[in-house]
Amino acid sequence: MRASRTRRLAAGLAAVGAAGYLAVKDRQNTAQPIRAMYPLAYWGRRLATEVGPLLRQYWFESDEAERPYNRTTRNWVYASARERPNTIGFGATYRSDEPGAVVFRPRTFTNTAAGGHGGRYRRSIGGRGTRTVELDRWAYISGMSYGALSDPAVRALNIGAREAGCFQNTGEGGLAPGHLEGAKVIFQMGTAKYGVRNDDGTLNDDLLAEVTAHDEVQMVEIKLAQGAKPGKGGMLLKEKITPEIAEIRKIPLGQDALSPPGHAEFDDVDGLFDFIDHVRSVGGVPTGIKLVIGGEDEIRGIARKMAAEPDRGPDFITIDGGDGGTGAAPMVLAQHAGLPMRMAVATAHQVLLAAGSRDDVALFASGRVATPSDAALTMALGADAVGVARANLLALGCIQSLKCHTNTCPTGIATQDERRMKVLDVDAAAGRVTSYLRTLIEETELLGRSCGYTTPDQIQHGDVVVQVEPGRWESATTVVAIGRPGPGESGPAPGPD
Ligand SMILES: Cc1cc2nc3c(=O)[nH]c(=O)nc-3n(C[C@H](O)[C@H](O)[C@H](O)COP(=O)(O)O)c2cc1C
Repeated sequence: MRASRTRRLAAGLAAVGAAGYLAVKDRQNTAQPIRAMYPLAYWGRRLATEVGPLLRQYWFESDEAERPYNRTTRNWVYASARERPNTIGFGATYRSDEPGAVVFRPRTFTNTAAGGHGGRYRRSIGGRGTRTVELDRWAYISGMSYGALSDPAVRALNIGAREAGCFQNTGEGGLAPGHLEGAKVIFQMGTAKYGVRNDDGTLNDDLLAEVTAHDEVQMVEIKLAQGAKPGKGGMLLKEKITPEIAEIRKIPLGQDALSPPGHAEFDDVDGLFDFIDHVRSVGGVPTGIKLVIGGEDEIRGIARKMAAEPDRGPDFITIDGGDGGTGAAPMVLAQHAGLPMRMAVATAHQVLLAAGSRDDVALFASGRVATPSDAALTMALGADAVGVARANLLALGCIQSLKCHTNTCPTGIATQDERRMKVLDVDAAAGRVTSYLRTLIEETELLGRSCGYTTPDQIQHGDVVVQVEPGRWESATTVVAIGRPGPGESGPAPGPD
């Protein structure tokens, strides 16, 4: 009895002593004025700031409020990935009465607006001195590098894509073993030429030829820019660089891997075309580019040169929206640089059409596509195929904790921490990716049929209307209106001070 009282007294004294010590340290910490002014109470605020986003996400925020993906969207992806019913009862909760609302115009009879062509989706890519590649799915997994993602995540995405019949883009981190589980692959070459570089960062032709010799590698994508950070190359912090990643990328250990903002080999459209010619001749596969739209003049320059020299130029162009995702990017670029995908893809499509080169190139687009209506709208605005990155991470099990840049991803997806990545079961996660991609494709086809077509890529921009202000609807060509970010899209998430 007496012993336990003594223990309680000792514990109490220790707690008071620790609190006193902390209060003195807080008071002395003039580098953080709030801490010095409110010793001890500061820690309550700190806890509230840390826990606040979690509570908001689960308890307080409305189903439509969160960004980049609101709960309604995430739940649709989760349900599709787990093969749970994603039908709803009673009626729509989508606010079709508000500005920004996107509505597809259904048809009772066959729609002939697309020229009446029917059958299955199919696109041939290439032909400029290489074999052609047949795309028979319009959805693919957009580039996310091994390094930004863990090995189980890359592997699960590859198996998931394989089973759904979709392509996987490697991202700019080189070709990893996880990319060779059987899916068809687009090898991405970023400005640092990871995996196919000399020590000085220039392209090593032999290494590129080795990469494209893999049967799985069907195309090469030269990354000019990424929507989340145009003007800045890839960033992989040294904490995420393991010896294996260093070996795959051909970079030293112990240093952050920062790609240069541009390719050393060229700085204008003529130089780009020369470089594409070179990569295509070394790689022997259709070769495209990934870029972000700023002004129309650059894409117009590419489009006009393609029209003038139809045997040259990219076999495909990927447009990445300024609203695209990233493993790590400076906030100012992620939030404020680059046209949003819908506006950007419509711009590229129109410019290519005007130049007469639209039929010579496949147009891919990525940027916050997660649901069938996102995908259908992207194709209605001009895309031939749609890249999906983050929604596939949701299918893997991502909970949108926004920690991809910290190596502390709680679901083992965007981390190189062995303990964390162990929780990701490759086969189960791959099954969810397959199921999500299949559902996305099937339900987008459903929407296409509702509009009177046989495949969703036939949907025209005139089949979609957008509410631009209360009561005023315009066709989806009013891309500026639908490309405009919604409320709350550009605000920073405050962290603890
Ligand atoms: C974790 C992560 C890593 C990424 N890594 C790359 C990359 O290596 N190369 C690239 O071009 N884009 C990269 N991206 C961008 C995606 O490929 C895609 O263009 C962008 O996120 C838009 O698609 P989404 O909105 O479906 O995510 C990455 C995105 C994420 C989330």
